[in-house]
Amino acid sequence: MPVTAIIGTQWGDEGKGRIVDLLAEDADITIRCQGGANAGHTVINHMGKFALHLVPSGIFSKAMCIIGTGVVLDPSGLMDELKVLENAGVDTGNLIISDRAHIVMPYHILFDKLEEQRLSNRKIGTTLKGIGPAYGDKVARIGIQAGDLLDADVVSQKIKAAVEQKNLILAAIYNHEPLSAENLIDWAIENGRKLKERIKPTSPIIRDALSKDKNILLEGQLGTMRDIDWGAYPYITTSSTGAAGLCLGSGIPPTALNRVIGITKAYTTAVGAGPFPTELFDTTGEFLRKQGNEFGATTGRPRRTGWFDAVAVRYSAQLNGITEIALTKVDVLDGMETIKVAVGYKLDGAIIDGIPHANRMDDVQPVYEEFEGWTGSVNASSYEELPKAARRYVERLQELVGVPIRLVSIGPERDSIVENPYLVAA
Ligand code: GDP
Ligand code: IMO
Ligand code: MG
Repeated sequence: MPVTAIIGTQWGDEGKGRIVDLLAEDADITIRCQGGANAGHTVINHMGKFALHLVPSGIFSKAMCIIGTGVVLDPSGLMDELKVLENAGVDTGNLIISDRAHIVMPYHILFDKLEEQRLSNRKIGTTLKGIGPAYGDKVARIGIQAGDLLDADVVSQKIKAAVEQKNLILAAIYNHEPLSAENLIDWAIENGRKLKERIKPTSPIIRDALSKDKNILLEGQLGTMRDIDWGAYPYITTSSTGAAGLCLGSGIPPTALNRVIGITKAYTTAVGAGPFPTELFDTTGEFLRKQGNEFGATTGRPRRTGWFDAVAVRYSAQLNGITEIALTKVDVLDGMETIKVAVGYKLDGAIIDGIPHANRMDDVQPVYEEFEGWTGSVNASSYEELPKAARRYVERLQELVGVPIRLVSIGPERDSIVENPYLVAA
């Protein structure tokens, strides 16, 4: 299996952290490849319950953990996260940071907030973690990289140049007082000092691991429908959430990727604004939110809920070359009388092929197939022990998406999962 990518196929929060924690037991290296502390990956295992934001979900295993080049990293947030883990007895000594990862500076968090305020009712509903502004500076070539923090002269020069530009924008657009470059330089040097031992070039590590056929797990952030290129633009995040993005963000050559596991929730949730064709606004939506405990792990916001959208997941499977799916939260559907799945989209009265342009996403009408509900999936200890109606649901989803569903998760704990022996080839 050497290189496996774990990606979200929907609007995020599919249970990526939960599956990475499980698979990391056999991994030599786990890498976070993109995104930043906008992630909230919940892991429940023998060490306790954790909401991880920047630290790879393999941290509970013996695997080396890497915060990869494609990540935007808030050093203060990372330090807080490490403290929580260390206080719980988790060994974080095996965590390293790519020297090429970009730093989320305090002004990125400020700009995220100011821009969302300015947009008002047109806002994206970001996590306010500074992600968009940090990637913006990376692309504009005025970002600060982790390796810069280790050289006081370099970081001073770069921060002064960035602050010059920020202060012009702050005054002209946001009517905000100027930033002090000196304070920011002190902040950066201090964080560099604290993280010095962890900041390293990662390509020699990756090259060595590949040459020794080590098991490498790439952990994705968010999901396809919020991908910068393939999501419902502009209601997206600012990184590439798919398999190709994970290769770029980790330094794994695309040809080295053997397996792409699409993490998929048995229904759909989203946080933040933007199109969500199968969204439910009724008591069924509330049932899913309550039963599934659908509140953001990063922001605490109630998640929007809706039926499974096979059009979106099929789109994700095709875009990302997904080789298998891990279906999570099947237990949350326990007790529903009937369950619906969107099997197609209608636009302007006609069935369309796949996903329309983002500007028309809000106008589609899902075409639903209805399923008989079930109870008690939560008690199954093998695939055969799942209620018959739950198995029918899983097997129909495999057909609709065109990818085998190999793992079926029926609880948030590491071992609450069964393996499906009846795989349907794409
Ligand atoms: P991620 O961002 O993709 O890692 O997902 P999150 O951690 O944000 O959200 C998934 C939530 O569902 C977390 O609270 C998990 O503990 C929980 N979870 C994961 N798999 C299951 C499952 O099979 N059943 C139940 N009931 N909860 C699950
Ligand atoms: P994980 O990895 C769910 C959403 C935000 C907003 C949009 C842009 O836990 O699945 P950003 O802060 O990235 O600029 O916000 O993306 N979003 C997430 N939604 N899970 C996440 O991460 C998310 N990260 C960002 O709500 O709509
Ligand atoms: Mg999450």
